Amino acid sequence: MSEVRFFSGEQIPLEMHKVRIIQKLYLPDVDQRFLAMTEAGNNTFLLRNRDVFLDMLTDSGVNAMSDRQQAAMLMADDSYAGSETYFKLEQKIKEIFGMDYFLPAHQGRACENIISKVMVTPGSIVPMNYHFTTTKAHILLNGGVVEEIFTDEGIKVESSHPFKGNLDLSKLNRLIEHNGPQKIAFVRMEAGTNLIGGQPFSLENLAQVRDICRSQNIPLVLDASLLSDNLYFMKIREEQCQNLSIAEITRRIADLCDIIYFSARKLSFARGGGIVIRDEQTYRKFQELIPLYEGFLTYGGMSVREMEAMTVGLDETMDLDMINQGPQFIAYMADELARRGIPVVTPAGGLGCHLDAMRFVSHIPQQQYPAGALASALYLVSGIRGMERGTLSEQRGEDGTETLSSMELLRLAIPRRVYTLSQLKYAIDRIHWLYENRSLIGGLSFYEEPKVLRFFFGKLKPVSDWQQRLVAKFKEDFGDSL
Ligand code: F0G
Repeated sequence: MSEVRFFSGEQIPLEMHKVRIIQKLYLPDVDQRFLAMTEAGNNTFLLRNRDVFLDMLTDSGVNAMSDRQQAAMLMADDSYAGSETYFKLEQKIKEIFGMDYFLPAHQGRACENIISKVMVTPGSIVPMNYHFTTTKAHILLNGGVVEEIFTDEGIKVESSHPFKGNLDLSKLNRLIEHNGPQKIAFVRMEAGTNLIGGQPFSLENLAQVRDICRSQNIPLVLDASLLSDNLYFMKIREEQCQNLSIAEITRRIADLCDIIYFSARKLSFARGGGIVIRDEQTYRKFQELIPLYEGFLTYGGMSVREMEAMTVGLDETMDLDMINQGPQFIAYMADELARRGIPVVTPAGGLGCHLDAMRFVSHIPQQQYPAGALASALYLVSGIRGMERGTLSEQRGEDGTETLSSMELLRLAIPRRVYTLSQLKYAIDRIHWLYENRSLIGGLSFYEEPKVLRFFFGKLKPVSDWQQRLVAKFKEDFGDSL
């Protein structure tokens, strides 16, 4: 990684790229924001992007591409079968991961569908360092059971542990002993563990998990969607990786796994997905399902242009200067917020900066969705769109009782190489103001609540006139500033 020290001693991330295509942004004033949020039912998924200033909903499919990726897209071979674009991608995958077989799929959850259909049987168990929403849904759909065996440190909001995404080995051993290895469909490790704040696992932990799996003949599957952040953290936080290149670390990881799948909406800064497989028999079983659910074997539901972008993006992921911007910006934002006493998930992970709503708005009961209320309030005062990760994202029990989440987070994803440091400073400034005025934030209640995936489509209203009061205080403090 390029090392640059500032004369002033200031420590700020310095991008090793320049911006050559821009998209104009629009920041609606606070009255317009109030209207837009009310229309969206206080659900950030339902906002129209034209009303959003900084879109921090996700880093999925919204990362900036490089000039080389854009150039490659123009050279794509658009044939249904036998496209050269596919063979280029397959070659790059083999080079990076060192496995023989590759299958394309249109995005991460499509890979999860194929893997689960083949490997999960009714009653089988899939232990993992943490679940992801779509992963869990596919495993459950096939009759399996998800067992999360994260370490105690993993779900502590504030911690200094460098690898909160590690899997708890003794819990894994106990689980296998208790159920027998035949009942375990596979062990799943998720790089850059999404739902606990983009937290990485260590290479050492993965190797230990691998040893257990091998001794019990259990396949080890890696969800590599957030691999680039995990690679960065291994490189800077793990001693055994310090003298390895990113490509070497990637190969060490891959050598420990039987199957690797990924969402190319994250890994490779493009849009698509794929499954990388070591053994031929498993490959044959997965292969049969690709034409059925995805598309022919040489495109798997993806646009060939995106596949060209993936090939170049994967190659660029092996360059530390190309993947460090995300985690460095996230660390900058989390550290600056923490310095102001604002509760955030620490240490800073990948994916985004996560505000701890449980403490930010500790006066709001979980039944009134503190993280959802914070998401709504932040949009009102800044035009920034985040994603609720708390009770609102859970499903109500059959008897109508709320499933209270163990964490109430507002995720502010940082799409890679998209926003500048001054835009982050704006976000920090508005979050700081909101924290000073947090007593004005109130709860939310549903007025339209879908039975499934209510966080995507549900609509909520404030439990009082707190939003009017928040807007009035904003105007008082900021005058005619947007
Ligand atoms: N696995 C992980 C770890 C993910 O973060 C995602 C997507 C998927 C699988 C599914 O991939 O979207 O391509 O089908 N995460 C997105 C997010 C949706 O916003 O965090 P997909």
